[in-house]
Amino acid sequence: MQKQDGLPAEIDLSRPSAARVYDYFLGGAHNFEIDRQLAEQIASMTPNLAGTMRAGREFLRRAVRVLLHEGIDQFLDIGSGIPTVGNVHEVAQAVNPNARIIYVDIDPVAVAHSRELLVGNDRTGVIHADLRDPGRILAQARALELLDFDRPLGILLAGVVHFIGDDDRPGDLLATLRAAAAPGSCLVISHSTFEDQPREMLDAQRLSARTDTEITLRSRAEITGFFGDWTLLEPGVVHMPLWRPDSASDVDDNPAQFGAFGGVARHDQPVG
Ligand SMILES: C[S@@+](CC[C@H](N)C(=O)[O-])C[C@H]1O[C@@H](n2cnc3c(N)ncnc32)[C@H](O)[C@@H]1O
Repeated sequence: MQKQDGLPAEIDLSRPSAARVYDYFLGGAHNFEIDRQLAEQIASMTPNLAGTMRAGREFLRRAVRVLLHEGIDQFLDIGSGIPTVGNVHEVAQAVNPNARIIYVDIDPVAVAHSRELLVGNDRTGVIHADLRDPGRILAQARALELLDFDRPLGILLAGVVHFIGDDDRPGDLLATLRAAAAPGSCLVISHSTFEDQPREMLDAQRLSARTDTEITLRSRAEITGFFGDWTLLEPGVVHMPLWRPDSASDVDDNPAQFGAFGGVARHDQPVG
């Protein structure tokens, strides 16, 4: 399914893609003119947005390290994006070389580049699938025989659940994923919000309607609901920079400026 220039045949170059816009903001090379135009327009409305994306990456890195500390050595990273520096497998395998990671993304460019990057890393796998079909993600992940679903698993949903509209019942999708995970597993979510946001940020988020992956901003309470009955780790669902910063100096005066909440919860064994 490759075009002559090495790109997957199913890429639609007439519309910007969220993964490629995100790649551009992070300084990556896997984006096209149509993506850069949208990125620049968003950036001119919200100079903060590139910072938001970096803050999201930083949150994910800290969360993965906490999961490793909890003894988790296998990860299902859904909405993993185009590989840039500091990918989950790099963070995890630097701490535990035996850590296993499956990347999942709906975007064919993200999937193609992930496969390319991971050639030779036999503790990683890549799946081209849609979070709106968690049953298929789980079936494909099991088929790869890389993760052991009887052992604690890290489910990573960083910056992706806001691409699921309410009509697609994100709460049910997440419940399906949680139900597949053994006790001791952890769920990591970061999610854009309208809470505490200036108008220009909300306007910029609306531009996402031009991509195939429109964003739905949600409240802290709605985002907290995605963790179901799992136990939220301290400090709960907070603006991303406030989630276990490496040092107090990493948190500036306005942590809400990055427009997204982050949290981590653990599947504890029921008592009794
Ligand atoms: C903002 S990026 C986040 C990348 C990475 N998780 C991170 O935090 O650095 C969102 C990613 O989610 C992917 N995505 C959007 N909707 C999706 C869906 N329904 N299923 C799977 N992936 C999706 C996009 O293609 C994009 O690569």
